[in-house]
Parts: sequence; C-alpha cells; structure tokens
Amino acid sequence: DGGGHVPAVVIGTGYGAAVAALRLGEAGVETLMLEMGQQWDKPGADGRIFSGMLKPDERSSWFKKRTEAPLGSFLWLDLVNRDITPYAGVLDRVNYDQMSVYVGRGVGGGSLVNGGMAVTPKRSYFEEVLPQVDAAEMYDRYFPRANSTLRVNHIDTKWFEDTEWYKFARVSRDQAGKAGLGTTFVPNVYDWDYMRREAAGEVPKSALATEVIYGNNHGKMSLDKTYLAAALGTGKVTIRTLHKVKAIRRQNDGSYVLSVEETDAYGKTLAAKEISCGHLFLGAGSLGTTELLLRARETGALPDLSSEIGKGWGPNGNIMTARANHMWNPTGAKQSSIPALGIDDWNNPAAPVFAEIAPMPAGLETWVSLYLAITKNPERGTFVYDAAADRADLRWTRDQNAPAVAAAKSLFDRVNKANGTIYRYDLFGTRLKAFADDFCYHPLGGTVLGKATDLYGRVSGYENLYVTDGSLIPGSIGVNPFVTITALAERNVERVIQQDIKKK
Ligand code: FDA
Repeated sequence: DGGGHVPAVVIGTGYGAAVAALRLGEAGVETLMLEMGQQWDKPGADGRIFSGMLKPDERSSWFKKRTEAPLGSFLWLDLVNRDITPYAGVLDRVNYDQMSVYVGRGVGGGSLVNGGMAVTPKRSYFEEVLPQVDAAEMYDRYFPRANSTLRVNHIDTKWFEDTEWYKFARVSRDQAGKAGLGTTFVPNVYDWDYMRREAAGEVPKSALATEVIYGNNHGKMSLDKTYLAAALGTGKVTIRTLHKVKAIRRQNDGSYVLSVEETDAYGKTLAAKEISCGHLFLGAGSLGTTELLLRARETGALPDLSSEIGKGWGPNGNIMTARANHMWNPTGAKQSSIPALGIDDWNNPAAPVFAEIAPMPAGLETWVSLYLAITKNPERGTFVYDAAADRADLRWTRDQNAPAVAAAKSLFDRVNKANGTIYRYDLFGTRLKAFADDFCYHPLGGTVLGKATDLYGRVSGYENLYVTDGSLIPGSIGVNPFVTITALAERNVERVIQQDIKKK
C-alpha cells in the first residue's frame, strides 16, 4: 500500500476517468484509480450520507471555513451559507482571480453534485466544436453507449404536467412561450420513477427534499452506481480515496512515476507515496488535468509537453440569471431540485442560448424564476503555472464574459417584455447584479483534443500518456457537458486499448 508498480493508473474518478477504468478493466488491464476526495457511501451520525442544501455541514464543502453556495443571498441577506470545519466535503469552489469554478470531489467526481441533466449536443454544433472527430461514429455508437451506461432516463410528461413539484418549470415555459420561445424536456440520470414515488410519499425524499449540489442521498444514478460499479465488477480495478496526485515524472524505461499524498478527511497527511505505471490516464477534470500537465512541463519533469497545454479554456458560456414574477404568478413552495426543461433558442443566429429552467428550492414561495443559460461565447482563458504557489492560475477576465451576458440578456429581456416582469438583482452576492458572470459549473478545455493531444487524447510529446476528461473539449459544447465528455472518452479509450495496449 505504500506505492509500487501497476500496469495502468487513472487519475480521478469523474466521467472521463470512469470510462477509462471500466474499459481497461474489461480488457483485463490491472488498473488503479487515485481520487483526492472520499467515497460517499457511509451515513454520518445523522443517518445520512450527504448533508443537504438547507442546513449544510462540513460534508458539503471541500476544505472551506464557510460554505460558498452559488446563490448566497436573498434580498441581499447572506442566508444560506454557514460556518463549517474544513473537511474533505463533496463540493469545491475553486476561486481564481476573476472566475470561480464549482467541481465535485469524491468517488464519482462531478456526478455527485451535479443536476444530472444528460444532454446530447446538437450534431451541427458538435461538428463545429470538434470538426476532426467523426460525428457519424459519435452519434451512431458512442453517444448511445454513453447514454445507456450512464442510465439516462426521460420524465413521464403526463406526471410533469400534473405535479406541484414542477409548477416552477411550467410557469417558466408559459412565460417563454409568450415571448415566442420554445422549450424542450431534458433527460436526466436522476431516476424519474423514484421521484414519482417520492412525490407519492412511498420512499425517502431527495430531489423533493431540496438535495442536489451537496449530494443526493437517494435517486441519482451517479457514477459510483453506474460506470464505477461496473469497473469494480471487472475485478481488475481498484480505487484509492483521499489520494491526491501532486506530480508526474517519467523514468528512463518509459514508465511514469506519480508523487501521491494520502491524507485523512481533515487534511492531515498520512503518507507520501510514489506509484509507477506503464499507462497513465488523466481524468482529473479540466482544472485538475491541466494543472498536473502544466506543472510537469514548467518544472521540467515532462519538458516535451506541448505549448498548447493550458490553452483553450472556457466556462461553456455559463450565465445564471433570475426573474421576479408578479404576485399572482407564484412558482411554488415545493420545487424539485432536478431541472426538467430547457428554453432552446440555440438556432438563433444572433445569440444562441440554451437556458435550463432551474429550481429555487427554498421551501417557501419566492416568486423567482431561475435559469442557468448556456451561451456561445468565443472568448477563451489560459492557465499559467505560478511557481511560487505551485499551482495553475487562470487568466480570464470578467469582461471576457460580456458576450455571454449579452446573449443571456437578449433572451431574458424578451421574456420580461412579453410578461411585464423584471430581473432579480439581489441573488448573486451583496451588490446589485442581475447576471452571475463570475462563476461556472461547466469548466471545459485546457488540454484540447487535436492540439495538446492527438485526435484520441494521446498527450503530444510522450507515449502511453492520455487525457480522458472535459479538458479535451475546447471551452464550449452548447449543452450541459457530461454526456459529451463520457461519449468522447468512450471513443478515445476504445482506440487506445486496441492500438496501444492490446497490440503490445
Ligand atoms: P470531474 O470533475 O467529474 O472529475 C474529476 C475528478 O478528479 C474529481 O473527482 C476530483 O476530485 C479528482 N481529482 C482532481 N485532481 C486530482 C488529483 N490531483 N489527484 C486525484 N484526484 C484528483 N453537467 C451536466 O452535463 N449536467 C448537469 O446537470 C450538470 N450540473 C452541474 C452542477 C454542478 C453544481 C456542477 C459543479 C457541475 C455540473 N455539471 C453538469 C458539470 C459536470 O459535472 C462536469 O462537466 C463533469 O463532472 C466533468 O467531468 P470530468 O470527467 O471532466 O471531471
């Protein structure tokens, strides 16, 4: 357990990592997954695994003294955030100078904290973003494979129309319709049938008990229940938790050596290990993978890495905004925390927007309609290595989000005009602000496919070194990204196993 050699290591346990581990395990390759977060399968003293959103405790956050919820205020009062003990909790907010990025920490990565929206991108936009990838192959084979292995399912639309839990979404749909905008149902990995039973009072509530960004205690098919369970089932895959990879270097025989720190859940160092492997897959996410490769290049450990590493980062055009409804148009005190509808205006050539209709599950009537808009913003950020702090800094300025705000504003100005409503200015921090342009949920890029790697995620300059996560996608994909991350990983790993591993 102090280190040693394994044929393959996968760093991280998010979408890309989970695909790599499952397919390596099926191919008979002994694979070790290293995850800096915890395994979330044991209930705490209160009998629950996760703390929930309304009274978050230390389980909610990754080493914070106070929780940092995206909607920290209501009527400018800091109502939802709480002081906590720094702990290896499930949601991290990585604060760069002018952009904060939310990411999941633990076995399952982002799947533990996300809204489960499982959207296959429009084919024309996929072709625009990744023109070198054979789209026919993706849409015929890898997107279907990702959707079925992730256990993506569809809401019963009759139930949707009847239930009080989606009144907020129906209200938003009607208001969008008045502005001439169409909506579409969004598939999910939350088990909709379980949710119906929650509503009927037959099973413990999760989506209907405001749980989502700090983990769902029930209902959600996160990766630990799908890909990772299957990976462990091959008998070839092992996961080590609270193991953070700090550095990567290469030995003369071509194998890779990882410097790994093992801690306890309160951050106390337990051991420093060196683990070597023949094939190394980076699945630490856009931030994690990019940082590891930048550090390796800039410290001289892997000097032949491409100058493209660190480039092509974007927040998938994420902008959050909210509207205030009239008193006679309530959105409901009961709201499912899992979104079911999106306003689809992506084909608008002036300002493409796909806006998910988000809940504001406060447990009381708020008259708020909340949205996470995904826009098409051509601006990109760059990671640079800060040697003194030994970390990657994100060069991204607030004004780079101006095109995204303008696109979201043009859509919601239409909705407000058609309904005689206005924006809410009090939800995103302590100053007047209608558009949250300083945080994102969808970090993409940093080691872009076909630039920092070849067309299958093989890192340029080195053999047997691969990127398998969201850092391959160049900053934008037009919809919520995890289905694309999963499908692309399926495609790449299949090729790598055939050509680089089985043939040897
Ligand atoms: P991901 O971030 O999932 O996994 C990386 C893993 O690597 C993490 O577990 C991390 O702890 C680990 N790691 C990092 N560095 C490491 C190191 N040095 N050593 C060891 N381990 C390390 N998307 C979507 O499609 N639909 C949705 O509804 C939502 N909703 C949503 C809500 C919220 C609150 C968030 C934060 C995000 C979403 N997303 C989403 C985004 C989605 O979750 C995200 O795009 C994917 O999780 C990214 O998958 P990756 O495989 O790239 O990495």
